[in-house]
Amino acid sequence: MPIYHSLGTLPKKKHITFEKEDGSLYREELFSTLGFAGIYSTLYHIHMPTEVHGVKPLAHVPFEPWEDAPKAPFHFFTFKAQAGGDIVTARKTFLYNSDITLSTASFTELDDAFYRNGRADEVLFVHKGNGELHSEYGVLPFRKGDYLVVPRGVMYRFENLDADNRFFITESYGPVETPRRYRNPFGQLLEDAPFSERDMHLPQWRDPIDSKEPARLIVKSNNRYHEYTLDHHPFDVVGWDGYLYPWSFNIEDFQPIVGQIHLPPPIHQVFQTPGAVICNFVPRLFDFHPKAVPAPYAHQNIDSDEVLYYVEGDFMSRKGIEEGSITLHPGDVPHGPQPGKTEASVGVKDCYEYAVMVDTFKPLELTTLVRETMDEDYIRSWLS
Ligand SMILES: [Fe+2]
Repeated sequence: MPIYHSLGTLPKKKHITFEKEDGSLYREELFSTLGFAGIYSTLYHIHMPTEVHGVKPLAHVPFEPWEDAPKAPFHFFTFKAQAGGDIVTARKTFLYNSDITLSTASFTELDDAFYRNGRADEVLFVHKGNGELHSEYGVLPFRKGDYLVVPRGVMYRFENLDADNRFFITESYGPVETPRRYRNPFGQLLEDAPFSERDMHLPQWRDPIDSKEPARLIVKSNNRYHEYTLDHHPFDVVGWDGYLYPWSFNIEDFQPIVGQIHLPPPIHQVFQTPGAVICNFVPRLFDFHPKAVPAPYAHQNIDSDEVLYYVEGDFMSRKGIEEGSITLHPGDVPHGPQPGKTEASVGVKDCYEYAVMVDTFKPLELTTLVRETMDEDYIRSWLS
């Protein structure tokens, strides 16, 4: 996250004494990444962030693998999966590999627990609902269409979340960043990038909470969960600065790149991670050559599995898609528009659609939730 941000009160230099009014010291914490070579932030707490009373493992298992799933195109309806749950159990995982996990969630039973994904950055795409993401770094209000980018290790809790909420969640074991080719050597987004720093929403100030009431923290570490009992409220930060914090970007602020003839998916990219790219499809003008075919050609992207999460609108290249549908097209076999969709796209000037795409560089594994919610006829949908 290449924007420096600071909130609250800081000492004049790092690693010097920083006194409270009573003469005792605030507690400095360095939150660092990539072995002290990545982005980092420095936080100042009222209490020691290391004070815990205990820890216990939780029995929750995040998903059941579909061991003998065929290698084939899939379409499944995520809204058909049993919805609801707390900050952990609401997450319904459909696809995963050693780089990425893809889930949906409707949080219906949130309590006072804090949550930390200790191993993966999270990108929570807000399909439905307004709310606030509270963390050590402050408050990040969010609305429909926001991507909430939460670096691994950030402790957070949702507050004031609408009851009717829906998220599409990408967990990435590598850091989630803006695409490198959109940035200059100094990290600033280039003039021809499809969004700018003004479209990024950063945490807002919240007064520190000085409470010695024990607090519950759920930590996810790969696919295991532990519940920690913290000695005090963890949002006791009086000031912080740095480049690492949760932030958001709304899909409506993505400025689509259009061309005379069909352009390939990288023009739709929003984020990069070592194991995948995250792209989005937004309302846009179609290709303007007099004989342009706006629908994509059949294609085989042999090194990627392609996942599309459909949010809203008319999906010009697919039949039978609903809100919350996911299609999975493995790199091993070609895919493209279904019969009639190519012809129907010729001469069309624009489209209204919102969708999030995750192209992974390693094959994805399926969970039994795909089997339970899938469109059985999808594999035959290209037959005339
Ligand atoms: Fe594709």
